[in-house]
Amino acid sequence: MLAAADPNLIPSIFRPESVPAHAIHELSLFVLAVTAGIFVVVFGLIAYATFRFRRRPDDDGREPAQIYGSNPVEVAWTTVPLLIVVVLSLATARVIQQVQNAPKPASAVDVELVGHQWWWEIRYPKLGIVTANELHVPVSSPGRPMPTFLDLRSADVIHSFWVPRLAGKTDLVPNRRNHMWIEPQRTGLFIGQCAEYCGTQHAKMLLRVYVHTPEDFDRWVREQKAPAGVPPAVAPGRRVFEQTACVNCHALSGTIADGRFGPDLSHLMSRETLGAGALTNSAAGLKDWIRSPDRFKPGVLMPAMNLPESDLDQLVAYLATLK
Ligand code: CUA
Repeated sequence: MLAAADPNLIPSIFRPESVPAHAIHELSLFVLAVTAGIFVVVFGLIAYATFRFRRRPDDDGREPAQIYGSNPVEVAWTTVPLLIVVVLSLATARVIQQVQNAPKPASAVDVELVGHQWWWEIRYPKLGIVTANELHVPVSSPGRPMPTFLDLRSADVIHSFWVPRLAGKTDLVPNRRNHMWIEPQRTGLFIGQCAEYCGTQHAKMLLRVYVHTPEDFDRWVREQKAPAGVPPAVAPGRRVFEQTACVNCHALSGTIADGRFGPDLSHLMSRETLGAGALTNSAAGLKDWIRSPDRFKPGVLMPAMNLPESDLDQLVAYLATLK
């Protein structure tokens, strides 16, 4: 599903493509270098002592000279670790400060991200857009900074936003608002994943971030804001939709459906995946999914609606027009 062959899609903190991710990456390399130095010194000494003072055949069995206390050694092994800890703390505090207190430019895009079991609700309050599981943002450049500021909340349990190439991990905690921001400097697709165990389908709570040129982002915004037309041929499917329990959980602009338990369906077919990355979004995938969501995501909160086959076909034909 994730086309693992494409190295650009591998979520690695070692290939940052966003301002806060770069800051965290540099810090992690510094911490790794310092701790690698400690590792080499400590294990070098252990290896040396093990080899140099190993038991030999001509040992006379007597204990070597026992030495108690040494002020220079005590001072050295107290101050050196202390200095290392202070340096690591200061370097970390600097990056935390840099990431947490970043000024928000007027050109920033605002996004509210709400974690649900097991999908992501994505709202652009200033743009009037609601979508799910696939976050679209503009690319940022020094001449045209367009970071995206995220307001993170949860509708149920603790989830965690983590798109390793774009930003550090930040939890979505019930009754609390957390904040993070991303500032990607390259267009493309970046894969993220819920990073806090949140129940049965935690593993299938994927997040896709599409970074567009500003022009492409504007086009995406226009498409998302355009009302979905209903071709006459699919009107029966729309009736099926409005007459089943779909409307209790999903919202669909221009219809009576305004539920918030499940993803907004207004521009359903503009998304590449269903069930937060559980399967590819297509008319066939949609049909399989609606027939038995549990087959793809055991424990999923969406029930199988057990629609007669003809109703299901009409419903899918209608949903497939929601571009
Ligand atoms: Cu949401 Cu794990």
